[in-house]
Parts: sequence; C-alpha cells; structure tokens
Amino acid sequence: MHILHVVGARPNFMKAAPLLRALSTKPATRQTLIHTGQHYDSAMSDVFFHQLAMPQPDANLEVGSGSHARQTAEIMTRLEPEVVERKPDWVVVYGDVNSTVAAALVCSKLQIRVAHVEAGLRSRDRTMPEEINRLLTDQLSDLLFTPSADADQNLHAEGIDASRIRLVGNVMIDTLLRLLPLAENLNVDGLPPRYALVTLHRPSNVDDLLWLRSLLSVLNEISRKLPVVFPVHPRTRSRIAELNFPLSDKTFFVVDPKPYLEFLALQRRATVVITDSGGIQEESTFLNVPCLTVRENTERPVTIELGTNQLVGRDVDLLRREVLKIATGQRKVAKPIPLWDGRAAQRIADFLCESV
Ligand code: UD1
Repeated sequence: MHILHVVGARPNFMKAAPLLRALSTKPATRQTLIHTGQHYDSAMSDVFFHQLAMPQPDANLEVGSGSHARQTAEIMTRLEPEVVERKPDWVVVYGDVNSTVAAALVCSKLQIRVAHVEAGLRSRDRTMPEEINRLLTDQLSDLLFTPSADADQNLHAEGIDASRIRLVGNVMIDTLLRLLPLAENLNVDGLPPRYALVTLHRPSNVDDLLWLRSLLSVLNEISRKLPVVFPVHPRTRSRIAELNFPLSDKTFFVVDPKPYLEFLALQRRATVVITDSGGIQEESTFLNVPCLTVRENTERPVTIELGTNQLVGRDVDLLRREVLKIATGQRKVAKPIPLWDGRAAQRIADFLCESV
C-alpha cells in the first residue's frame, strides 16, 4: 500500500511525525511525504523536521505566503501533478491549515482516498479560516480520525456517516510523550524561575493593531509581577514592529520562534501559558500547566472540561486577574483525557492498513 502524507505548516509536523514512524513498521507499506512549503522559514519548518526525526520530504512545492485564495490555489495547482504521477492509495492530511483543505480538495476530485488526522474539531466560528478548512476537509475525507469524543459528536451532527469516523486519540500527544524526556534535559539557562509563556499569531489578535496594543500593554504590566517569555511568530513580529510599543526590557523577553524541544521545555516549566494557538491548549492541558486562551471560543472544548484551559476572550481585565490568581496558586488541575496516551498514531496506522 502506498500512503502519501501532505504537510505544510508548523503545527502539521508534530502530527505527521508519529504516523510516519508507526507506518514505517508496517509490512508492504510505502510512504511519500510532500511539503507544500506553506511555512518555509527554517525556524518554522526545517528545525522541526530535524528534532522530530522526520524523513526529508520527497517533494517541496515551495508555495510560500500569499492571500488565502492565492496560497490555497497554488498548493492545489502544484500538488495535483504530484499525486497523479505518484498514484497513492491514501493521502493523509493533518489539522486545519490551508495545506490541509487544498490537498483534500485535489485528492477527492482525483478519487484518491483521503484520511484526515485531527478531524471533527469545531469552534463554530466561521470568521476563523481554520474553521472553514476543518468543515470542508471533513466533508471531503473518506476516513476521519478524531482526537476526542466531542469531535465524533460534531461529525454525527453534520450528517457524516459513523462508518467514516474513528476515535483514535491525539497524535500530538504521541510526539509530546516521546520527546518530553529530551525536553526535560535541555539546558534553559537564563530563564526566570517563574514566568508566563505567551504565543499569539491569530489574525484576530495580531492584525487588529488597537487590540494588539492593549494586549501588549497588559502583558507588559503583568511582566512586572510575573516575567513574560514571548516567542514571536513572523506575522506577529512585523505587527509589533509597526506598533513600536515600549516593552519592559528586564522582564519581557521577546524571542524568536522556538524549535519543538525548546518550546516544550518552556511550556513544561511555565507558571501559566497565555496563547491563541490550538495545539498549545492541548499540550498545556496534558502537561497540567494552566492555560489562558485569548479567544472567544475553542474547537478543543475537552481542554476546558477536563484540562487546565480557560477562555479569556477579548477581556484584558479578566486576563490580568486570572494570571494573578494562577500566580498565587489558584488554578485548574487537569484530569486525564481518554486516548491521549501516546498510541494514537499506532491506531491510525492499524486502521489504514486494514482498509485496503
Ligand atoms: C498558519 C495556519 C494556522 C496555524 C499557523 C501556525 C492557515 C490558514 N493558518 O497560520 O492555522 O496555527 O500556521 O503557525 O493555514 N511567515 C513567515 N515565514 C514562514 C511562514 C509564514 O515569515 O515560514 C509569515 C508571512 O508573513 C506570512 C504570515 O507569516 O504571510 C502568515 O503565514 P501563513 O502560512 O499564511 O499563516 P500563519 O499565520 O502561519
């Protein structure tokens, strides 16, 4: 059986890595890895391939950045001849980025079977490009691998037949569990003993400069009580530069995007995580580190119900109050989430190999 994986952006890599490994032990299985090039900076891509011990891609489509339409169309145009020529039995797509939906659309029209890893998540917020990507990818996919029971319910409610859905758990946690011992041993000199770890990259937070200014201002204020460590996404860095906002230089550490292991080490030791990322809500829950999500909604409600996550929306006073509460020990404690056990990719590999 020939399985072709399509990845493109940073959050895809830690999801594809464990499935590539699990499938590599299956007999009579050939794998191809295609990188769309949606993320191309070394800090957003190469370093992840290296740390996650992923094979080099068989092809890089080098699509780069652009508007949603341009980027999605470019991925489709460049991917189509690759899959026509390589004739895979299955194409596996990951998560909710533009590369995911583009690949699902190309392959479903070529009548090549598509499997979606991390299917069924819904924020119910169609202003998020990722929500559109999730809805369409799930409609187009033949097999839907879900991380949690809420995702199955979402798919049932959309009329997707149960025969296409497999609850397998969370592949990102497979990677986290495998690499946590390495991250624990990393030397992270120069870190304050207690700190808030911040990541922000959603257009709704960083492209609205007035809102970004008020967020930076409250984070700056927080940093005087609890230092802030802020690895900055390229999109966010250019927005912050536009604002020219004076950040406290002794307590507010603005640093480049971190490789996987370094970021995991930072997350593991953080007093609190403040983020608008999807994956970080899950990782912080798994690590039992309190997480404040700067969004009005989440497609990962299990991290609120069972985990350490809390939405703070667009309320800077709530954000400030909750950080200070956590800093004094008033915090949520995570319960285990079913099937987030390090074996999700193995389950996916078994299902794919049964499906011939
Ligand atoms: C994409 C995903 C988002 C995911 C995020 C993780 C979509 C719709 N969004 O958002 O779900 O959470 O990746 O990072 O697919 N840039 C660089 N170097 C790079 C990549 C991007 O400088 O290697 C800059 C460019 O200015 C680019 C901007 O970041 O225009 C946005 O990149 P893009 O891939 O469009 O979306 P992300 O915001 O990264």
